[in-house]
Amino acid sequence: MLYLGLNIDHAATLREARYRNWKKGLSPEPNVVDAARMAQKAGADAITVHLREDRRHIQEADVRVLSRILSIPLNLEMAATAAMVRKALFYRPEEVCLVPENRQEVTTEGGLKVAGDWRRIKAIVKKLNGAKIKVSAFVDADPAQIEASHRIGAQCVELHTGGYANTATQRARRKELDRHCRAAMQAHGLGLQVNAGHGLHYSNVREYLAAVPHLHTLNIGHAILSRAIFVGLGAAVAEMVALMQTQGNVPNAD
Ligand code: PXP
Repeated sequence: MLYLGLNIDHAATLREARYRNWKKGLSPEPNVVDAARMAQKAGADAITVHLREDRRHIQEADVRVLSRILSIPLNLEMAATAAMVRKALFYRPEEVCLVPENRQEVTTEGGLKVAGDWRRIKAIVKKLNGAKIKVSAFVDADPAQIEASHRIGAQCVELHTGGYANTATQRARRKELDRHCRAAMQAHGLGLQVNAGHGLHYSNVREYLAAVPHLHTLNIGHAILSRAIFVGLGAAVAEMVALMQTQGNVPNAD
């Protein structure tokens, strides 16, 4: 079984483009909670949101409501900081994905450097696990980062697929896929759940799935929200779910 986590950050990006610092009593569009509900109904298996330090899209109010009303898991992407750990312990999402964060970036640019900072991150994982929150580390497909993700006690890794998605030539793509294949096997061998995401879209997802084993969840946002402009969010989610179900015959996590 392969799961889709829909990242709805960009529904909030659209809202914030018009309604930054909106006041109580307004009903700013698009309604992010309604978007999550619609995605849930259309077959998304989880909703992912990134509560950024600069609050450029998702706001705390979104996390507060989503953590209460969803019947599918909420995956909170966040920086590995004490302030964000306090938020996670307060809102109690089912899952936290630890990501690197840099205010200047347009989107998350690289994987978390777990290996160089593993003692500090391990303490964060312990706190989150203590509150029964499952922890994932968003990492590059790099053996040292996978090994460190295991060392800190994370339950999952999310392989950063941005490098793969941005390759221009078939040769470079093949190389990336081989790297991801090895990383997935390593992570699975260490008992980690293997997720992947960033830059996956309707044209590359099947190639990725056919090449990389043991995948549990794909977290996809931009492509689905973009497609939703033309076909509606429910249809955009359903199309991605259908593509993921017709994946190649690769061994799966469960
Ligand atoms: N996973 C992580 C950790 C991310 O930071 C993002 C982007 O916010 C995604 C998945 C989804 O990426 P995309 O929007 O390119 O599908």
